[in-house]
Amino acid sequence: MLIHSASQVLTLAGGPQRGDALGRLGLIEDGAVLLRDGRIVAVGGSAELRAAYPGEEQLDAGGRVLMPGFVDAHAHPIWAGDRAAEFEQRLQGKSYLEILEAGGGILSTVRATRGASPEQLIAQTRPRLAAMFAHGSTTIEAKSGYGLDLETELRMLAALLRLDDEGPWDLAITFLGAHAIPAEFKGRADDYVAELSANWLPELHSWWGQHASGRPLPFVDVFCETGAFSLAQSRRILEAAKALGFPLKIHADEFDNLGGTGVAVELGAVSADHLVATSAEEIAALAASDTVAVALPATPFALSEAHYTPARRILEAGGLLAVGGDLNPGTAWCENLQFSLALACRYLKLTPAEAIAATTINAAAAIQRQEQLGSIEPGKQADLLLLDVSDYRQLGYRFGTNLVRNVIKKGALHVHSGYPGQ
Ligand code: NIG
Ligand code: FE
Repeated sequence: MLIHSASQVLTLAGGPQRGDALGRLGLIEDGAVLLRDGRIVAVGGSAELRAAYPGEEQLDAGGRVLMPGFVDAHAHPIWAGDRAAEFEQRLQGKSYLEILEAGGGILSTVRATRGASPEQLIAQTRPRLAAMFAHGSTTIEAKSGYGLDLETELRMLAALLRLDDEGPWDLAITFLGAHAIPAEFKGRADDYVAELSANWLPELHSWWGQHASGRPLPFVDVFCETGAFSLAQSRRILEAAKALGFPLKIHADEFDNLGGTGVAVELGAVSADHLVATSAEEIAALAASDTVAVALPATPFALSEAHYTPARRILEAGGLLAVGGDLNPGTAWCENLQFSLALACRYLKLTPAEAIAATTINAAAAIQRQEQLGSIEPGKQADLLLLDVSDYRQLGYRFGTNLVRNVIKKGALHVHSGYPGQ
């Protein structure tokens, strides 16, 4: 299929964009892209490609923007129940960490998730993934972490593997058994950490070999935070995971600075996420490493917090910055990554071009898929978005409405309602 007459093709060519290189769109005006067998074959001007490939099936982009599919590098899409009552409590003055300390928060979602069958979990998760996909997220990182016992965590991972097979989306799966201290280990956090590190991670490793046929190992993630896992506990879990060969992620500095970013850099984590309370020294260490900083602006927005990730300082230091959505039932129930992109423009002070790079090629790097995804380059997977706008800056400028007209996943055209016009 030859897609032609795009007002702008945003190629994002040339690999992940570090520091002040962020925002290189590789823009082609009146552009075209040739797709075959789910892959991108050629990119160029419309006239040039139509002359070079005359016999191809054609899709007229009608003067719209064509860009890579979004990669949502941080999501908790699988859970049961909801926390609308806690939302109301927070509006009345209780804090997120107070609710968690009282056995609510993540732990109330854990109770609901433990009680859900695999079929119920899949049935509740599928529409969330479908909504993310319809808003342009063609690849989605997906964490477990609402089981907090090995059986329920593996049930969540099995459900995610099924949903990945089902598609049309691709999932990048993460084990987040260290999301909170489960009620049965209250006051014995070190015992939970010992159990998870010494027994669950090796069991996960062999379970994955039997159930995930040929896929790379999942990421192992830890919520390093007051009320969740201390720095020493986070280090112990991540070191055990690293020794088994798991790639690492961390939730660090969402509320308090415990030093998690430094450990992530030291252990070569693929990404460090949230990074709101991160210090200048840690930003410098991060920027000197290959660990991707993943900002999640929907979370402070949804918690009515004043502080966001110091994205400009990360970029000035030369860091690799991505922006993710953080879909979860507690702090950010939002399936629309375009909304996070709009927040990134306002609160992280990114331009639309920077925010687009941070949700495509750099987000692909945050899940180790930058070789296959995140840009429109020959050889890459044909995951594209046709927007209902003719100027890419409308992304970020406008928010709340879905500006994606079509999602093209592995070369297949998925039609969505989109915007009624252009
Ligand atoms: O990324 N911080 C930890 N995990 C989620 C929140 C999960 C929840 O509250 O259910 C986050 O914000
Ligand atoms: Fe998270």
